[in-house]
Amino acid sequence: METRLIVLKDYKRTGVLSDADKTELRAAAQILKNGGLAAFPTETVYGLGGDALRKEAARKIYAAKGRPSDNPLIVHISNMDQLYPLIDSMPEAARKMADRFWPGPLTMVFRKSDAVPAETTGGLDTVAVRFPVHPVARALIEYSGTVIAAPSANLSGRPSTTNAEHCIEDLTGRVEAIVDGGSCDIGLESTILDVSTGEPVLLRPGAVTLEMIRETLGADIGEDAAIKGPLEEGERPKAPGMKYRHYAPKAQMVLVTERHGGSISGAVAELLEKHLREKKKCALLCSEECIAELKLSRPLILEGVTVKSSGSRNDKSEMAHVLFERLREMDAEDIEFIAAEGCSEEQLGKALMNRMQKASAWQILYV
Ligand code: TXA
Ligand code: MG
Repeated sequence: METRLIVLKDYKRTGVLSDADKTELRAAAQILKNGGLAAFPTETVYGLGGDALRKEAARKIYAAKGRPSDNPLIVHISNMDQLYPLIDSMPEAARKMADRFWPGPLTMVFRKSDAVPAETTGGLDTVAVRFPVHPVARALIEYSGTVIAAPSANLSGRPSTTNAEHCIEDLTGRVEAIVDGGSCDIGLESTILDVSTGEPVLLRPGAVTLEMIRETLGADIGEDAAIKGPLEEGERPKAPGMKYRHYAPKAQMVLVTERHGGSISGAVAELLEKHLREKKKCALLCSEECIAELKLSRPLILEGVTVKSSGSRNDKSEMAHVLFERLREMDAEDIEFIAAEGCSEEQLGKALMNRMQKASAWQILYV
């Protein structure tokens, strides 16, 4: 299959869709209308879109990603009127959340209506819906005249894609089009909140944080077991996708997190030394602060490894923005061992740690 690259030149430069961009986007929308697939930017990560109401399109999405078909897709809407035909009922909690966070990086799981094919929901009787705020995503959905099923636009098992280059890497020859709208602001996938039962439950942390949800709903919100730690034999996550070792770099990764007042830079230096002795190609993914400390205390270590900065320790948004990109870079460089710095789990830190815990297969060193 030939993959057409659709570059939104003016949008990338100005952040506003010009008439020329809109014409290009209409071509991508036509592909979706015809039952084809197009990757497109959202504020979280790129999505691999197809018509959510056509089962053949859903099947194509699974094939293009190499994803197991029991893992349901998120249905993307561009206005609230598109929501009601997809769902069985609108719980009060969902209404409050939608009022405050839609459009935005929030997905909610509802009991589904018959309009949504079982192929789209991986056979579940619930449907995940998201109303993105990204102007390109919204225009594309609107022009397509339908609702768009879109998982993250990466090959299954690879980090999610946060710019068009990543999509080109993973999806060339697998989708009809890739819409290049520049890099995604947030860089981590949406928060998923299950509102299909009486009590809302967090299934995946994201930029709409647990603190924000608690404040909005005025209640203590439960978290799915898959967020809290590695699942035990036989335990099942509510979001089927959470059971896979997503976001996995090729390298072994150890996550170093401060919990007992220890030194992050000291601990990563020790880990790196050990793996360098084993002649492994090593990388360090950490804050500017950690790099500065190592420059003073262990400058030789920094020379022997690939150093990737995740920005300042105090700027979690920047860490989120670059995480998947850094993981992809390290894959491309055939890194075999990664020492990575974690962060506190407050606010956006919860989503960051969730992705890093999975990337490290829960190999965490608390210092
Ligand atoms: O930010 C995002 O959410 C991105 C952009 C493209 O919107 N999409 C995304 O999709 O991350 P995906 O397919 O990579 O992750 C969707 C997650 C999976 O873990 C899946 O199991 C879960 O959502 N999910 C989807 N439908 C569900 C449902 N009905 N019940 C429970 N979990 C569901
Ligand atoms: Mg994904």
